[in-house]
Amino acid sequence: MADLLSPLGYESTTQPEGADIVILNTCHIRERAEEKVFSDLGRIRPLKEEKRSQGQDMIVGVSGCSAQALGDEILKQAPYVDMIFGPQTYHMLPEMIAKLERSRASNPKATILNVDFPEEIKFDHLPAPTSTNEAGLSAFVSIQEGCDKFCTFCVVPYTRGAEYSRPVEKITNEVKALVDLGTKEITLLGQNVNAFHGLDSSSKEWNLGKLLMRLADLEGLERIRYTTSHPNDMHADLYEAHRVVEKLMPHLHLPVQVGSDSILKAMNRKHTCDDYLRIIDKMRDLRPEIAFTSDFIIGFPGETDKDFEDTLKLIERVKYAQAYSFKYSIRPGTPAGAMENQVPEDIKNERLYRLQDLLNAQQLSFNQSFIGKTLNVLFERDGKHEGQLIGKTPYLQSIYVKANQRLKGQILETKITQAKQNGLAGDLILVQDEKVF
Ligand code: 5AD
Ligand code: SF4
Repeated sequence: MADLLSPLGYESTTQPEGADIVILNTCHIRERAEEKVFSDLGRIRPLKEEKRSQGQDMIVGVSGCSAQALGDEILKQAPYVDMIFGPQTYHMLPEMIAKLERSRASNPKATILNVDFPEEIKFDHLPAPTSTNEAGLSAFVSIQEGCDKFCTFCVVPYTRGAEYSRPVEKITNEVKALVDLGTKEITLLGQNVNAFHGLDSSSKEWNLGKLLMRLADLEGLERIRYTTSHPNDMHADLYEAHRVVEKLMPHLHLPVQVGSDSILKAMNRKHTCDDYLRIIDKMRDLRPEIAFTSDFIIGFPGETDKDFEDTLKLIERVKYAQAYSFKYSIRPGTPAGAMENQVPEDIKNERLYRLQDLLNAQQLSFNQSFIGKTLNVLFERDGKHEGQLIGKTPYLQSIYVKANQRLKGQILETKITQAKQNGLAGDLILVQDEKVF
């Protein structure tokens, strides 16, 4: 969005105070995300009024999935909002601003509401990368969007629409452009990234495994990641990519949600715990050092104590490097939201604590297993204290070392000296006459 607005003369700022335009880019995945939209809007309102009192305007926009799902409900609750647009229309931002300004000439209360799923492809209308910011060393590239899976708890198929894969050449060109600008690591993004099936220039379909192998050939690109995958879309080429592509980091984010077959069925996940564990075992056979992360939902309607214990058992079996866990939250319009056997809040809380205790302990022991070992670290930014650099290990652990800023942007061998649950500390291993400072 910043790239779209810069030709119109807008510049990014980190402070909403005094801005000419403020856009809240929102999430709708859980109830709390939705609540946040309204609390954030409440904070923006006085800033807009303040600007008004000085005879100036502040355009307030709400974009993203909550905008898509709530639409003009937002305008009813927060009438000072000027523009509402969903995740599939943000490439039209310059047009929408122009339209707003034109309509305001005759009607000062005019607003924009754009929650369509336009025929044209959003990605074709987004500007190519021209510069990288500090985070540009490691960049995200969307390759797939939307979802046709309809897990019964999830709002994504409704807010993001049907699954779509970008063409192979467009992705390759974008990655090349990023690498030319200094990017060393890319993360390929998609709600169902391993269901990718983009077409090449001769209209042949490529899967994610093939795409990874092609991108690995790009000189200057050092690390490749992808997220988020669904167990049902694992495929032979993807396994093969993990076996042979060294640039592909030894990490797989593969959400299982729960470890109970009956809850998996009620969730419409369309696989069993055994199917999932077979994937884990196969991956470990191919690339023994691979680390797994997952998402978990506790308190899905009908979840019994036994179902929950089975989730803990699955976690014990897999041993995760890290995981996100959430209490089930009702999403309006989804099948699970209408189920009658909702789990009481106090049981959800109790289960969440137990689950997180186990996951935290696993994360700590995963991190501790590296003490005394050496890992390659991509140093991305300055640390909190002077003389510190922060980077990422191949397993996506955050790590800091004492080193000079000039080493930022490099991938350097680092000996791990300390491990906490949330990250590592280490010492650079110096090669020849390199100096840490
Ligand atoms: N309640 C709780 N968690 C949810 N997620 C998706 N929908 C819900 C919901 N209604 C979680 C899933 C998913 C992650 C992105 O968010 O674990 O993998
Ligand atoms: Fe949501 Fe992922 Fe299920 Fe799609 S596969 S419905 S995005 S949880």
